[in-house]
Amino acid sequence: MFKLSELLEIPTEAELYETVAGHFNDISAEFYGRANRRLLEELAPKGPVKVLDLACGTGALVLEIARQLPQGQILGVDLSEKMLAQAKKQSASLGLTNARFHQEDIRSFLPNHPPEFDLGLCCFALSYLGVDFVLKGLHQALKPGGQIGITTSSFQSLVEWQQVFIQFFVENQGKFDFQQIPNVPEMPMGHDDLKKKMEAAGFEKVHVVSLIIPLEFENAEEAATFLIASGWLSNQLFAIKDLGLRKFIVEWASEKIEAMHAHEPKITTQVEFLVGWNEGGSRES
Ligand SMILES: C[S@@+](CC[C@H](N)C(=O)[O-])C[C@H]1O[C@@H](n2cnc3c(N)ncnc32)[C@H](O)[C@@H]1O
Repeated sequence: MFKLSELLEIPTEAELYETVAGHFNDISAEFYGRANRRLLEELAPKGPVKVLDLACGTGALVLEIARQLPQGQILGVDLSEKMLAQAKKQSASLGLTNARFHQEDIRSFLPNHPPEFDLGLCCFALSYLGVDFVLKGLHQALKPGGQIGITTSSFQSLVEWQQVFIQFFVENQGKFDFQQIPNVPEMPMGHDDLKKKMEAAGFEKVHVVSLIIPLEFENAEEAATFLIASGWLSNQLFAIKDLGLRKFIVEWASEKIEAMHAHEPKITTQVEFLVGWNEGGSRES
């Protein structure tokens, strides 16, 4: 589907999504999709609700809600033109008239948004947008008693990959510009942490469940390709603007990962996905 060397040459993370858009549904259906479907089961929205999905990507969740709730109005917002083009194409082929898509940076869309939504979602984008920014912004954009739904990875994910990246920067100190060291992406530590953060943003009756998703790859190159194309490793890697250094780190890390799994038939790892929501109260109709 993709070549690792080509993915590593994409200058920015925003352009990564333009590149992977045509295949994102295939990449995510059994990955992010598992957590997003669980979220929808827990929320079970009903009636003529107004729903916002921040960083909706190719719109799988928006389209599913729109299909389930013909009287609802579902709005998906994302920065990527091509991710949204996929969403619109799918929406048209399903004949949906209650799903809308809007292209904008959430950092300009969300602040001070009027409280017009019954349900606000943000799936697998907290690490780009910031946990507090999203939770507080959604709290304000919801009507009183509105519901929030979040899916995200936690820090208990790809632990060995994270350790290998840290090891790289420790062992290679002084060999590159300090500015090149990327910030650690913003993710909750685990389900208690996400629950506390949702409560701190003003949500009550919050529930968070943890899903452990095992992953298996033929080799480290296949693993790195999937983890970048899905937007997982790209968060840190694409902060490194020196393409030579970026490539070197991935090759270095891949060798270490292969060595760690040398006696196993496959490269195995796992991610922890968190699914968080609140019970919500009485809604205005
Ligand atoms: C990992 S994908 C998740 C997509 C979808 N929510 C899902 O669960 O399948 C992350 C999405 O965040 C979007 N994104 C990243 N930064 C953004 C920003 N600042 N404003 C709007 N969208 C953004 C990307 O374009 C991409 O579609």
